Amino acid sequence: MKFPGVPAMDATTLLKKDHDAVLQLFREFAEAGSDAEARRSLYRNIRQELQTHSRVEEHVFYPAVMRLRAEPAREAVRDALEDHHVVDGLLAELDQLDPEDARYGDKMQTLQESVERHIEAEEDALFAQARIHLTDERLERLGRDMAILKESLAGEAAAVGSGASRAVVRA
Ligand SMILES: [Fe+2]
Repeated sequence: MKFPGVPAMDATTLLKKDHDAVLQLFREFAEAGSDAEARRSLYRNIRQELQTHSRVEEHVFYPAVMRLRAEPAREAVRDALEDHHVVDGLLAELDQLDPEDARYGDKMQTLQESVERHIEAEEDALFAQARIHLTDERLERLGRDMAILKESLAGEAAAVGSGASRAVVRA
């Protein structure tokens, strides 16, 4: 599978960009106030971002870090996987709630806090460990592998969403 258009970017920079993107979506969600339609559509984007991010980390980045002999690095991956589990559970709950539901706001707040904690821990512990133990070349290769996986997941999501939007994603 070749994606010549994928720009070179090291793994932690790519993941940090994902983090920033989802934090921005949470800010937009807060700004949407009580606009249920806007909240629904922003929630869909947040879920898509989080699920893609987790899959990319779990398929490419975490296995590479788990292969290191450094125990603090491996421990950071185990912690991060627990965070993903919590986030997945909250997404499953939110999927069943309407934005007008009284519990919706609190649940979104919990999701945001969990994601913020995950991001902080990951950037402080895991990325730091990865930069110590992985060479620049290896980080670049992992970054490229993740960018490719992200592209194919975006294509999949668009195909599920609608046939029309697929062309836009792959253009
Ligand atoms: Fe992450």
